[in-house]
Amino acid sequence: MIINGAAFLITGGASGLGAAAATHLIEQGASVVLADVNTDDGKAHAKALGEQAIFVETDVTDADQVQQAIDIGVEAFGGLNGALSCAGVVLARRTLSKHGAHDLESFSRVVQINLIGTFNVARLMAPVLAENEPNDEGERGVLVNVASIAAFDGQIGQAAYAASKGGIVSMTLPLARDLAQNGIRVMAVAPGIFDTPMMASLPDEARASLGQQVPFPSRLGDPAEFAQLAGAIITNPMLNGEVIRLDGAIRMGPR
Ligand SMILES: NC(=O)c1ccc[n+]([C@@H]2O[C@H](COP(=O)([O-])OP(=O)(O)OC[C@H]3O[C@@H](n4cnc5c(N)ncnc54)[C@H](O)[C@@H]3O)[C@@H](O)[C@H]2O)c1
Repeated sequence: MIINGAAFLITGGASGLGAAAATHLIEQGASVVLADVNTDDGKAHAKALGEQAIFVETDVTDADQVQQAIDIGVEAFGGLNGALSCAGVVLARRTLSKHGAHDLESFSRVVQINLIGTFNVARLMAPVLAENEPNDEGERGVLVNVASIAAFDGQIGQAAYAASKGGIVSMTLPLARDLAQNGIRVMAVAPGIFDTPMMASLPDEARASLGQQVPFPSRLGDPAEFAQLAGAIITNPMLNGEVIRLDGAIRMGPR
């Protein structure tokens, strides 16, 4: 798919990986809808990106709000050609700690936002994309979901986060198979450790230590590198039904 002239919904587009993807796609001539619960950062980023970017306050777990963001994008840009599901939250909590058993509420919340929110966007984007005129390749749309290497190497305290990301990994192939007849591709990216506001909550020492664990290059990932891969996935029609680790070869240990 040619990025220039296409329009994309980007959940989590107010910050971090989603914001970087929005910048990259705008630079390539696309239009973007930033769909995020973070209104202040979302509005500011949309303003900085210019006329081809709009912000819509959206909770990905809410069917009506996601539908509204899609409708606004279709209205503003004459259609949508894909979605990047970057919205997500992280949680560090052991299954059993000195405080007792892991609470069910926080486990459910992480799965609700990361996994069910991602599926919510995919299922509501599908009918819109399926109506697009196919390009020469027969392609009508592309969905890029964001998993994590925690889906494979979940660490101590990551049961909820890893479960939510594992779900994104596991649904990549069935989503791609479901939507193949509609000319819609579905991919997932499993980032390693990227320097975003999500990681900024960690102390500098912890961030430096994580960076040193990456075999090469031994540093945290730059969100622009994620954006570059998202752009490559959109552009390359043969990429479908697969999860790409973007991690400098790190395999996380138990802690
Ligand atoms: N940074 C990393 O090292 C890393 C590694 C692996 C995977 N990821 C994943 O990448 C994605 C982006 O993370 P990031 O590092 O850019 O974090 P971030 O915190 O900078 O951005 C996440 C965005 O998601 C938004 N969001 C949270 N809940 C939402 C909801 N219910 N509805 C809509 N938006 C919501 C937040 O407001 C925020 O703007 C997440 O799914 C995260 O799990 C990040």
